[in-house]
Amino acid sequence: MALRLALFLAVIAAAAASPRCPQEANAPSFLYADPDDCTKFYMCSGGVNIPMSCPANLRFSNVNMTCAHPGSVHDTCGNPNPNPNPPTPAASTSSGSGPSSTTPNPYAAKNQCPKGPNPPPHLYADPDDCSQFFMCSNGVNILLACPSGLHFSNYRDTCVHRGSSYDECEVEQAIRKCREGSADVLPHPHICHAYFNCSKDPSRILMSNFKPFEMECRFPEVFDPSTKQCVGRRSATCDAIRKTTGHPCDYRYWWCRTRYCVPPCLRAASCIGQSDGFHAHSGGQLNRYVLCQDEYVVSIRQCPVSDIFSEDQGTCVPFNPQAQIP
Ligand SMILES: *[C@@H]1O[C@H](CO)[C@@H](O)[C@H](O)[C@H]1NC(C)=O
Ligand SMILES: *[C@@H]1O[C@H](CO)[C@@H](O)[C@H](O)[C@H]1NC(C)=O
Repeated sequence: MALRLALFLAVIAAAAASPRCPQEANAPSFLYADPDDCTKFYMCSGGVNIPMSCPANLRFSNVNMTCAHPGSVHDTCGNPNPNPNPPTPAASTSSGSGPSSTTPNPYAAKNQCPKGPNPPPHLYADPDDCSQFFMCSNGVNILLACPSGLHFSNYRDTCVHRGSSYDECEVEQAIRKCREGSADVLPHPHICHAYFNCSKDPSRILMSNFKPFEMECRFPEVFDPSTKQCVGRRSATCDAIRKTTGHPCDYRYWWCRTRYCVPPCLRAASCIGQSDGFHAHSGGQLNRYVLCQDEYVVSIRQCPVSDIFSEDQGTCVPFNPQAQIP
């Protein structure tokens, strides 16, 4: 029974052209050749097969789990390893002359990649471009690109969706620029109302839910990358990658810093669920009102002294205690 189940699963795996890509999230990533195209290979990571291509003129080698020059001793094209998991350093295949793999690789020495079995073949993000990564194998560094819309994650060891919670590459890039002495102000790659201020001493930012150098605009403002300032949200460019919902509780400086507290953001103005135009302050401040646009707070305004905002009339009206209590 167990054998039959195993066979059945093997057939499914074969049909999906995915030789044993285990579902365990913590299983190490590995590479294997595409059986139909020598220039392509797959990265198996956490049960997901990601199709990849070797750089131009190179072919994937099952021997070194790297991209090799056609005709070199490491070129295994036409001789695919039938069982590529786990990656096994097989005996070297022999084939004639041709460009040897000692040809200087144009991408080598970009970063340290020592020769020898240690470290074992590994992948790491291109520090200058998150959509690319290096495959380092026995002293050879090869630059590869993630499929479009994905970024390489050094933590997940695979390509992840840009802007997802696993995509830490650009955040680390910004922190590194600051640490390297830049005095720039950089937009947060994924949070429209956050940014990195390299001139701000990181030790002075006390809240633990901020990264080094990370700062937040005051609600309801967002960060404008072109002017490098916090501005009203209508003039700034937020999108599906640099996101903000416009809810005050998106702003971390309004979260609780002690236990047993009502988050201050709950008393703040919000336009979630409101039509465009003026609305009463949702945090219960009677003399204030908000201008809403696309469910975002555009601005918070104050009524003249002794007026309160009337949601019915859409304007400030004199405060009349009799009228409030029927
Ligand atoms: C491939 O592996 C063999 C044996 O482990 C090694 O001698 C050779 O230098 C490796 N080639 C590359 C390109 O890493
Ligand atoms: C960045 O930090 C510096 C030093 O604290 C400060 O003068 C400057 O106004 C900050 N810029 C922004 C946009 O927060």
